[in-house]
Amino acid sequence: MAKKIYLIANWKMNPANVRQAERLAANIVGGLSKIKNKKGVEIILCPPFPFLQVTSRKLRVGIKLGAQNCHFKDSGAYTGEISVKMLKDLKCQYIIVGHSERRKQFGEDSYLINKKLKAVLKNNLTPVLAVGEREGQSVRVVESQLKESLAGIRGAKAKNIVVAYEPVWAIGTGKAASTDDAMGARIMITKVLSGLYSKATANKIPILYGGSTNRKNIARFIWDAGMDGALVGGSSLNAGEFIKMTQELQK
Ligand code: PGA
Repeated sequence: MAKKIYLIANWKMNPANVRQAERLAANIVGGLSKIKNKKGVEIILCPPFPFLQVTSRKLRVGIKLGAQNCHFKDSGAYTGEISVKMLKDLKCQYIIVGHSERRKQFGEDSYLINKKLKAVLKNNLTPVLAVGEREGQSVRVVESQLKESLAGIRGAKAKNIVVAYEPVWAIGTGKAASTDDAMGARIMITKVLSGLYSKATANKIPILYGGSTNRKNIARFIWDAGMDGALVGGSSLNAGEFIKMTQELQK
């Protein structure tokens, strides 16, 4: 069976206003509807919270909605936070958890990420668990990030997780990882997952790559490095580029 490929658009704190978000979503969805998605690439748009509804209204069959973050509690006195239940109500099916920008700028650690992962799984949504080493760190830190983030999550639930390997030095820098580095990280992640769960479960967990992906390099990450898709930042803010990336995967 052909593998399932994911392209997840992480818009981060962009674009600037509702009108622009609506236009970006419409342009992406409109462009995608014109190409033949014969490889069945799963497209997920993750706009900022205030743009979820307008984006959702623009979606067509086969394109899904995701969020970039969540709180681990369902409701209560958590000023400024957004629950998984609220996101589910807005039709989100995926939630990015543990993005390196959240780890670095908002002090999120694996303990907190673990609680968020559990909350997402409890609500039957798909968490996209982002992991990755910083400049100068060994790729081995990914092993502890995975083990700590997945603590107490059993195989039956874990098989619903998507892992995104994003070396921090490759995010937004234009310096994507090499094919060999991505392949090495994928093998290592699969090994860690097979240690935590059964081999069968580990093989069910998609492993994506993220970091300066674009129309020129996307194919090598998927077909050469064997990644199951990509978490796309900058290139997902340009409808034409994002559509081209999807097209590149049809060959
Ligand atoms: P980038 O971001 O594609 O702009 O490097 C990826 C990410 O942070 O998810």
